[in-house]
Amino acid sequence: PTVVVLAGGVSAEREVSLASGRASALALARSFPTRLVQVNEATLPRGIDSSRELVFSTLHGVFGEDGQMQRLLDAAGIHYAGCGAAASALTMDKQRTKAAAAAVGVAGPRGLCFSQKDSPNPQAVIAQLGERLVLKPNSEGSSVGLRLIEGAAELAAALAEIGRAENHWLLEERLVGRELSVGVLDARGAMGIVEIRPRSGVYDYASKYTPGQTEYLAPAPLDELCAAKVRDAAQRVYTACGCRDYARVDFILSESGTLYLLEINTLPGMKATSLLPMSARCAGLDFVALVRELVAPAVR
Ligand code: DAL
Ligand code: MG
Repeated sequence: PTVVVLAGGVSAEREVSLASGRASALALARSFPTRLVQVNEATLPRGIDSSRELVFSTLHGVFGEDGQMQRLLDAAGIHYAGCGAAASALTMDKQRTKAAAAAVGVAGPRGLCFSQKDSPNPQAVIAQLGERLVLKPNSEGSSVGLRLIEGAAELAAALAEIGRAENHWLLEERLVGRELSVGVLDARGAMGIVEIRPRSGVYDYASKYTPGQTEYLAPAPLDELCAAKVRDAAQRVYTACGCRDYARVDFILSESGTLYLLEINTLPGMKATSLLPMSARCAGLDFVALVRELVAPAVR
């Protein structure tokens, strides 16, 4: 089959997606006839031939990663690699993902989810979650919109600023610990654990996409028992959310040794130097081999 790589899209992560798409298409072209299609609006691109083409999407965020594109592909009878519509919608919603993870014994940071109608009282939030908080959109990737907050005055100011936005927001306790990321493939289970050490101390958009701003340790220096615990949690959360083919699961391991789920990325960053490819490399899969394995389930 020919692999159609979808990239770009309409979310705040468009630029990231274009980079993922270019890198993936180059690597896929080593194994399959490949064409790269830039998506510029929230519709299914025309001209995909379901009888001889399959889709490998690198559309991050809204429309690409939240199940909308997957529904259109399903309706058009086009095979694609990666999670289906329901799991995509679930995992795009960080609050629902935390609930699904909690049900299989994997904790998330304590927090609350709200919309502009029910903006919380700053004093009450701080009484519940402490002074140091993270505020982020409930359904964005790449740390778009993420804010670190300390104290009631900052919280009140931040809440006033986001008050105009329609979407849902998450306020969470700010955990201190080690940031870990694990790729999961149906065919291989949880792969290598990557530890992320941003020089600024915060793994935000700039730390993610500015070369040299973050140190990555792959595999993470963890003792075998701890590593096994992280891999097991990644696999359980992946399964609980109904993921298919592949995804990347992000955690914080607190100083006291508790593992907290941050989120699942069903269409994670896919440059050769991105986290899922790093996790795969720990398992002996280079980038070309990884993308070949990722599309394999869609070649049916
Ligand atoms: N949302 C970005 C692309 C990632 O998770 O890798
Ligand atoms: Mg993400």
